[in-house]
Amino acid sequence: MTHLIAPSLLSADFLNLEKDIDMVNASEADWFHLDVMDGMFVPNISFGFPVIEKIAKKARKPLDVHLMIMDPDRYLERFKKAGAYLISVHYETCSHLHRTVHAIRDLGAKAGVVLNPHTPVLLLQEIIQDVDLVLLMSVNPGFGGQKFIGHTLPKIEELKTLITSTKSSALIEVDGGVDLENAPRLLKAGADVLVAGNTVFSSPDPLETIRLLKNF
Ligand code: DX5
Ligand code: ZN
Repeated sequence: MTHLIAPSLLSADFLNLEKDIDMVNASEADWFHLDVMDGMFVPNISFGFPVIEKIAKKARKPLDVHLMIMDPDRYLERFKKAGAYLISVHYETCSHLHRTVHAIRDLGAKAGVVLNPHTPVLLLQEIIQDVDLVLLMSVNPGFGGQKFIGHTLPKIEELKTLITSTKSSALIEVDGGVDLENAPRLLKAGADVLVAGNTVFSSPDPLETIRLLKNF
């Protein structure tokens, strides 16, 4: 499988969201990455259901919804109804991760688990065969435009080994500080999906930047 690109709309122009959605539709990107923040799990608040529902109406590619919220079980059904294709929850927010992952799948969505930079890959050992994707945070979640944490590279390799040795079909997604310089190294280490916010939306030519990320 060739790798996937998921532009993060957190860095889009919220006054002209339609324009940026059209750009992603017309681009070589594969998914829309949507960052939902609650101001509790992370020190920032982003957007919720009304915005996601509108994005879903315009987007012609799957919605990859990254939940940075406490107790995500409360809202899984609403995110699925709002148009989510993939719902990812943070390991750090789920006391009963197995139940949460299966609740997502029972709703008919793909299930992802997210690890913060300090959370070890090894903790996924007993759940890796139940998930469709693991998202490795390569910054501390909460904001776009932060600096990539280099320690993510060995974590990708370790996760790849865990996936292969358990015959899991989980994809590896990397989120935070992804740019044209580190993207080839992330892919070589085993990443399947690259999220890019600032790199795409602050580029003078976002379409070309997405094309470059997709064609490494
Ligand atoms: C951070 C979010 C990211 C963010 C990435 O908490 O999860 O998806 O939008 O932005 P960049 O690519 O600018 O680091
Ligand atoms: Zn994200």
